[in-house]
Amino acid sequence: MNRIFSGIQPTGNLHLGNYLGAIRNWVKLQRDYECIFCIVDLHAITVPQEPAALRAATREVTAAYIASGIDAEACTIFNQSTVPGHSELSWIFSCITPLGWLNRMTQFKEKAGKQRDNAGLGLYAYPVLMAADILLYKGTHVPVGEDQKQHLELARDIAGAFNRRYGVEYFPLPEPQIFGTATRVMSLRDGTKKMSKSDASEFSRLNLTDGADAIADKIRKAKTDPHPLPEAAEGLAGRPEAENLLGIYAALTDKTLEATVAEFAGAQFSTFKGALSDVAVAVLGPIGAEMKRLMDDPGYVDGVLRRGAEKAGTMAARHLREVQDLVGFLRP
Ligand code: TYM
Repeated sequence: MNRIFSGIQPTGNLHLGNYLGAIRNWVKLQRDYECIFCIVDLHAITVPQEPAALRAATREVTAAYIASGIDAEACTIFNQSTVPGHSELSWIFSCITPLGWLNRMTQFKEKAGKQRDNAGLGLYAYPVLMAADILLYKGTHVPVGEDQKQHLELARDIAGAFNRRYGVEYFPLPEPQIFGTATRVMSLRDGTKKMSKSDASEFSRLNLTDGADAIADKIRKAKTDPHPLPEAAEGLAGRPEAENLLGIYAALTDKTLEATVAEFAGAQFSTFKGALSDVAVAVLGPIGAEMKRLMDDPGYVDGVLRRGAEKAGTMAARHLREVQDLVGFLRP
């Protein structure tokens, strides 16, 4: 059985990178896999969150999944904290994960920065919890953006370490699914920096709830360079902003980067930006409108999460009992 598990942190400012790198691919894959899509609130609190904002963001991410085309009946959608097995399996995995593996994680180094000694244990253990998320459901495939690749390699290593320790073939080694022309969408203000929820500048990202005017404004102000667009993809070398904007256009229109470069060969940025705004509004506009409609109906959203938590919880409990037996926990 092929089973997808993936998730997004409810930390606000859901953006185009989350959509193109993750959610859009989930929509494409949902017919071919059993799918579990999580709102990872336990991960969110690895950095401080205001409780009311966390609750609101949990509903917002749920709304984004549904508004983007995830079938809430066929897929399991739930928030992580409703299923205690995530934390429990994470502890078991913590006990078989060498510190050396965690010390290699670049995301921790970036997030902890120079304040390493002040960073929380949760931030450090973050990728272990992520492995537990996937493996609690024996997930086989994990569609994510490029930035999660290292965490998924760790999840495979942890699955292998558990199987070896207990002499079983219990956990599958989950496969990353990183595909499309926008696996790493960059900031609109700096083509060398990832588009991110936590960037202080609103102009660095297109939010899924941005209206047409905001989208056009942000694209108009997006950083460029002084040259016309290149004639061929090789001409994008050393031009990160041009590459990023053309990549976004390609992803939004389901074209290759090469075809997009050919379409705008020699054009001025101003012409291209007009076309980019139009496709961004055409794709994001309806999603944002549907998200707002759903967020005005928290009863419906909570119902989806409640049903998802029940489905996820049942499977999680079964797997966790099997794991506890393998580990040697007595269940008197
Ligand atoms: P998060 O919340 O940071 O991001 C959610 C998803 O969006 C993708 N993404 C991007 N893709 C392309 N370009 C970007 N600029 C960009 N920014 C974000 C991420 O790759 C991700 O797929 N650790 C995860 C959440 C998580 C998870 C899991 C994922 C927790 N447990 C288990 C998969 C399986 C995270 O922080 O995602």
